[in-house]
Amino acid sequence: MIFFIVMSINLLGDGVRDALDPRLKSGALTRPQPATKIDPTFNAAKEESNPDAVLSVNALETQFRIAKRVYRAVNQVSFDIAPGECLGLIGESGSGKSVTALSVMGLVASPPGVISGGDIRFKGDSLIGASYETLRKLRGNDVAYIFQDPLATLHPLFRVGEQMMEAILVHEKVPPADAHARAVSLLEAVHIPNAPERMNAFPHELSGGMRQRVAIAMALVNNPSLIIADEPTTALDVTVQGQILALLDELRRTRNVSVLFITHDFGVVAQLCDRVAVMYAGKIVETGKTAEVLDAPAHPYTKKLIACVPELGRGKGDLEAIPGLPPVVDKLPPGCAFAARCSKAKAACETGDVACHQHAGRMVLCHFPEEKRV
Ligand SMILES: Nc1ncnc2c1ncn2[C@@H]1O[C@H](COP(=O)(O)OP(=O)(O)O)[C@@H](O)[C@H]1O
Ligand code: SF4
Ligand SMILES: [Mg+2]
Repeated sequence: MIFFIVMSINLLGDGVRDALDPRLKSGALTRPQPATKIDPTFNAAKEESNPDAVLSVNALETQFRIAKRVYRAVNQVSFDIAPGECLGLIGESGSGKSVTALSVMGLVASPPGVISGGDIRFKGDSLIGASYETLRKLRGNDVAYIFQDPLATLHPLFRVGEQMMEAILVHEKVPPADAHARAVSLLEAVHIPNAPERMNAFPHELSGGMRQRVAIAMALVNNPSLIIADEPTTALDVTVQGQILALLDELRRTRNVSVLFITHDFGVVAQLCDRVAVMYAGKIVETGKTAEVLDAPAHPYTKKLIACVPELGRGKGDLEAIPGLPPVVDKLPPGCAFAARCSKAKAACETGDVACHQHAGRMVLCHFPEEKRV
């Protein structure tokens, strides 16, 4: 009797939770589909993509649809990455950088994620609506990801060597001895001392910097053409961060890999990236060559972001901060999303769409861009 009473109370409790838990309604606890859902009323991109680019993203829109709310996490985002080029994607937390990166390989969890417009072309082939088999062949092979937390990427119960060999053997039929040799040489390439022995280490036996090096080696196992690195140095201390950035720079120059580097730190962009795209509330607000953007930011948001970077030797003065918070992407204001925080905002900024236009040799999404200092 006690057993039946306990079981029925448990089942009743589970039923009540299933009916009332908001996370279940949002789809957060359901098993996601293997590739992000494409909206049936999809808006194809109007403009042609750049045929020479490794990755060409054109007017991409990714949304999260939760009950009646639509979160426009990525809204008309366009950028190209040339072979061997490093593009930095920078913006505050919540600006849509990770969702953009995950959309490329259809890794945004659906539900609730939906790609509702635009185009993504990898080496000229459109990935929108591509079969799961096509995406699976590219993932970890021609396109590799490095995430912020290597402990979340590496399986805690397997030795790092086994995990690297598995990544090779899933995509290529080679003898295990060859896969082993390739894994060791990659651990050496990312400057892990005593690589053959480290193959037998478990992730928890390595330090944070070493683990991130293993994650980078794992991204390189199948000679990718594109690496998407989502804040790979944010969890590391400054010295290790410097070493990992130098390593990524060396690898992309020696192996001609293109890199999409996501960060919230302009200091990191300055060290590594050829070009930079600044993102705010799901849109790219400025794109240009790193040195030019750093020298003369055109968008008021870019200018503020650069002013927030601490500088050695600048003295004791207060660091600038951007007042206010970014808007929630399911209730974007009309006009410019930055208007509430912008010191240059005028009445024209609060109505109608702001069009992207060329200003001082780069794309800017602002009615009143900053003028270059003389
Ligand atoms: N699973 C989700 N459900 C609803 N909204 C989400 C989900 N994941 C991300 N978002 C929203 O998408 C926006 C962009 O997030 P993200 O790309 O992770 O930002 P970041 O620039 O910090 O990487 C944020 O406003 C976030 O709240
Ligand atoms: S459009 Fe207006 S509010 Fe928006 S960034 Fe430019 S000046 Fe500021
Ligand atoms: Mg992120």
